[in-house]
Amino acid sequence: MLKRIALMTSGGDAPGMNAFIRATTRYALDKGIGVFGIYEGYQGIIDNQIQGLPREDIVNIIQRGGTILKTSRSEEFMTEAGRKKAAANLEALEIDGLICCGGDGSYAGLVAFQKQWSGQMIGLPGTIDNDIKGTDFTIGFDTAVNTAVEAIDRLRDTGDAHSMHFIVEVMGRHCGNIATAVGKASGAEYVLIPETVSDIDEVNQAIQVKGHNIVVVAEGDELGGAYKIAQLLEKKSGDKSFRVCILGHTQRGGRPTARDRILASEMGIRAVDALLEGESLKAVAQVNQKYKLTELNG
Ligand code: F6P
Repeated sequence: MLKRIALMTSGGDAPGMNAFIRATTRYALDKGIGVFGIYEGYQGIIDNQIQGLPREDIVNIIQRGGTILKTSRSEEFMTEAGRKKAAANLEALEIDGLICCGGDGSYAGLVAFQKQWSGQMIGLPGTIDNDIKGTDFTIGFDTAVNTAVEAIDRLRDTGDAHSMHFIVEVMGRHCGNIATAVGKASGAEYVLIPETVSDIDEVNQAIQVKGHNIVVVAEGDELGGAYKIAQLLEKKSGDKSFRVCILGHTQRGGRPTARDRILASEMGIRAVDALLEGESLKAVAQVNQKYKLTELNG
């Protein structure tokens, strides 16, 4: 019987993580399950930063970016000794289920932890990158895309006024999903992503339109970041100069969109149900607008 669960956010934060914490806590408490919050991700389990999460702690958070549980990337959890300490802390509090919202590195952490801890573990895809196998969307992606599109709309105003050209760099680590969505939604003249071979001659051809131009580049593109692309294009075009705008961590912050809030809330509820069904080492995924459990692709 599931008596106590712990919630955790891990890796890079993603808008919607607070909605996950809120909905999951409320749902579990309503089911009579005790809920604990782990502060600062995997490092927090090792350092015993684990506290009861009463309903009063999760009010007024659905609209906030970041995560009230904080997050981190823990080197120590990658060691067996670190994971042993973590397991001892969870056992002392008699926690029998863990729900972790994070990216693929966080999923790998859960997979590794099964050797040290016998509790049930469920992963939730929380990353702006939308790069987790088996799910159509990850929590935070929609907000990050909207944030970048809004920024480009602003750049277009000033670009139009001055007939200026912009190279806009978006996040995504090794994945071009943010760049592709942002490029489509902002009407960019060209999008460079790591999944395809980028050809600077083609980019140069695409920006021959009059007025201002927007080129979106994913941070992981093999040609390099926005400064490198600007340099290559200036050399190619001869007469144009390019302004660089790196959106960086702005894409991780801010109010989550309604879509991310709903996704995070529904996935959190599905995770509690999965634990109640006796599942472990599974991830919640959204496929064709339905929720399902997949293997953890750690
Ligand atoms: O995985 C989320 C992400 O924001 C990536 O898009 C980016 O490459 C990375 O994290 C940045 O990590 P950090 O915040 O450690 O610089």
